[in-house]
Amino acid sequence: MKAANNILEVIGNTPLVRSHSLASHVESDILLKLEYLNPGSSVKDRPALQIIEDAEESGELQPGGTIVEATSGNTGMGLAMAAAVKGYNCIFVMPDKMSDEKIKALRAFGARVAVCPTAVEPDDPRSYYSVARRLAEETAGGYLANQYHNPSNPNAHYRMTGPEIWEQTEGELDVFVATMGTGGTISGTAKYLKEQNPDLTIVGVDPIGSIYYDYFLTGEMTEAHSYLVEGFGEDIIPSTMDFDFVDHVIRVSDKECFQYTRRLVREEGIFAGGSSGGAVAGAIKYAETLDEPANIAVIICDSASRYLTKIFDDDWMRENGFLDDGWGNSTVDDLLTAKGGPGHVYTTSAGETVARVVAQMKEHGISQLPVIDGNRIVGIVNESDVLNHLLGEGSRDDAIDGLIESQFAIVSPSDRTALLGQFFRQNKVVLVMDGNDLAGIITKIDFIDFVSSDL
Ligand SMILES: Cc1ncc(COP(=O)(O)O)c(C=O)c1O
Repeated sequence: MKAANNILEVIGNTPLVRSHSLASHVESDILLKLEYLNPGSSVKDRPALQIIEDAEESGELQPGGTIVEATSGNTGMGLAMAAAVKGYNCIFVMPDKMSDEKIKALRAFGARVAVCPTAVEPDDPRSYYSVARRLAEETAGGYLANQYHNPSNPNAHYRMTGPEIWEQTEGELDVFVATMGTGGTISGTAKYLKEQNPDLTIVGVDPIGSIYYDYFLTGEMTEAHSYLVEGFGEDIIPSTMDFDFVDHVIRVSDKECFQYTRRLVREEGIFAGGSSGGAVAGAIKYAETLDEPANIAVIICDSASRYLTKIFDDDWMRENGFLDDGWGNSTVDDLLTAKGGPGHVYTTSAGETVARVVAQMKEHGISQLPVIDGNRIVGIVNESDVLNHLLGEGSRDDAIDGLIESQFAIVSPSDRTALLGQFFRQNKVVLVMDGNDLAGIITKIDFIDFVSSDL
């Protein structure tokens, strides 16, 4: 009888499949490691099980205990699945922007899900990190899985993913490519592979907006910007991310990730999610730089089923500017040009008086001003806040600091115009930064004007 004893025994040993169409213009072989075929549908089944088994062995997780984790995604699925088999309770703490589907998937395994506000700093007691830590401490038998700082995460890949790839390629491997989230996959797999062949090249893939790319090149922490692809890229450096094993970092845009994801499904029948498209985009970009053909293994992290209402929905893709049709294809730079070109943007400073701001608004006929503190944009002050201030207890001589709103979004000239819709729906003001320079301010009416003139 070849039946497994439970679902956890079938984690791993995922197939390696040669890509036959996406990379036909390069001579290298792109080999796809299909992690979405794990029972929890992602690469994260491996670290989830390893984290639980190591905590059982160390005694940190006792029979009947409760596993707590701040996660919105695949690690939660892996932990919930293992907890169901092993008889543990699970509590997941999630930011409030997460889809109902994801919450329901975790509840389906019997897990409890606590939802926390997104718009707070990570060290705020209401943040989902802080709530997870507190719940783990306050729950009898609580254990915080802590995937961003738990060595069991990279160890799972050192023990399983690395050896599998080495065996499947029979050692004929030149390059390993993975997206970097917690860094567990790349760090653990690369450690094993480099032990087998120190000349092997390891390529990490990072979405534009994440801090990893700059950190890898300069060692400096920069400010993260928003991006839409899910599961990789960070605004912190977790201790599970070990750059000593990484030789190159390739950056990919949301659009590249999503277009390659769609092509993976349509042309290769590989039912993968957005980070997998990113990994393939990164692998192909790297392959294009090589003089000699190479065998390149790429991690295909999770399943398309989690993204059907986004990446695989034409309306969502168009709205976000990822389909090459209509005005959705224009850039912020096009909008600024239509508006008369990037020009001077009036600003004010933190500490300035209400009277001075009113004078500036009047002089230039504007209704909102970005507020600068040093060389950082700290917010926006707008005419309705000034009016409310003056109609209430406020005086003209007060500093504007109490009126500064943080409802703004920063975009760059090369961003798609279609990206802006979501910011205006959230009543945000859009500021255009060209490098460190403030190149423009876009209001709702500018956007309406641009979109309607093109119809
Ligand atoms: C969809 C997806 N892609 C990529 C990753 C990155 O993997 P790692 O955290 O091991 O770096 C994750 C991690 O959660 C993920 O969920």
